[in-house]
Amino acid sequence: MLIGVPAEKDPAETRVAATPETVKKFIGLGAEVAVEHGAGVKAGVPDADYQAAGARLVSEGEALGADVVLKVRRPQANEIAALKSGALVIAAMDPYGATDAIQALAGSGASAFAMELMPRITRAQVMDILSSQANLAGYRAVVDAAAEYGRAFPMMMTPAGTVPAAKSFIMGVGVAGLQAIATARRLGAIVTATDVRPATKEQVESLGAKFVAVEDEEFKQAETAGGYAKEMSDAYKAKQAALIATHIAKQDIVVTTALIPGRPAPRLVTAAMVASMRPGSVLVDLAVERGGNVEGARAGEIVTTANGVKIVGSSSVIRLGATASALYARNLFAFVETLIDKPNKALAVNWDDELVKATCLTRGGAVVHPNFLPK
Ligand code: NAI
Repeated sequence: MLIGVPAEKDPAETRVAATPETVKKFIGLGAEVAVEHGAGVKAGVPDADYQAAGARLVSEGEALGADVVLKVRRPQANEIAALKSGALVIAAMDPYGATDAIQALAGSGASAFAMELMPRITRAQVMDILSSQANLAGYRAVVDAAAEYGRAFPMMMTPAGTVPAAKSFIMGVGVAGLQAIATARRLGAIVTATDVRPATKEQVESLGAKFVAVEDEEFKQAETAGGYAKEMSDAYKAKQAALIATHIAKQDIVVTTALIPGRPAPRLVTAAMVASMRPGSVLVDLAVERGGNVEGARAGEIVTTANGVKIVGSSSVIRLGATASALYARNLFAFVETLIDKPNKALAVNWDDELVKATCLTRGGAVVHPNFLPK
């Protein structure tokens, strides 16, 4: 049982899918681990640390040719070509809208698993990459906002006069939003937050922030059984947009985290709303890779608008490569451990397990996940 850890190909990516800690644990389960030279460098893990943990340092081809390939991002075409038929490849596959890539993965004969489809049940909490990464992204988004903001976050009373506290508004109160609220509060900002799920109101208030939303009948029903947001009606969106527009004009900092699984991110902040903000205000859009909550946000960039407002579209989580890798690697280990027959020290995937069924995209040369079957 060979586990391969290739270096990530996206030049912006800083994370790595295994750490010396998880390498040791895999070896403890009877696996051999092959890490591509330099795979951990951007996450602060030198090759020597992997070696000390018992891994072999190998070429890209050898890491990709393993029985189990662990990645952060979906393999690119040239990586897919190096996968072994029958191998397991596990990553954040970003599967929605990636029909061709999923088809290519199927064509390799490998079984591809999308970690972001892990069901949110108690047993799988330790494997929940959305939570582990969103939590860090929420924290870092506020740190990034503070870094770009030309004023202070906390109120300060000084002999030279009083500095007012920054007004921060967090849009979308899932895992990332809750951590953003907590971080903005710690830095001393006055925090308000909004979400379409009614359950979040109490969570926002319990963190000492104020909840802002149109609380009508539709709002009261706006949560799926799985705890995710629903797409709201156009009428609700219009009412919410009007409320948000007046609120945003008074904010110094806006952090947006709103996502709807399988759909583009909802557009929450229009260019007109951005234009209504004071010069020097900062927006951080954590949904930028899903299409963006803020009009004008660009992935990987900080855009300064004509009225001097900054829109930060840099992926926050990759700026925390070391911590994000540590948690991501543990999420992956927890899942892979369930695919191993411990007494026999061999791979033994139970294809009927609900975690396997929920995450497996391709197997035996075909797409098998019901949500991604070719039309
Ligand atoms: P997410 O990343 O899918 O979305 C972020 C937030 O954006 C959500 O709170 C969503 O309601 C909100 N949103 C969507 N459209 C919006 C709009 N138009 N305006 C304002 N806000 C909007 O969500 P995340 O962070 O993955 O969490 C979703 C839920 O799952 C939460 O209730 C969370 O507590 C729960 N959860 C459960 C876990 C478990 O049971 N193991 C683990 C992690 C989260």
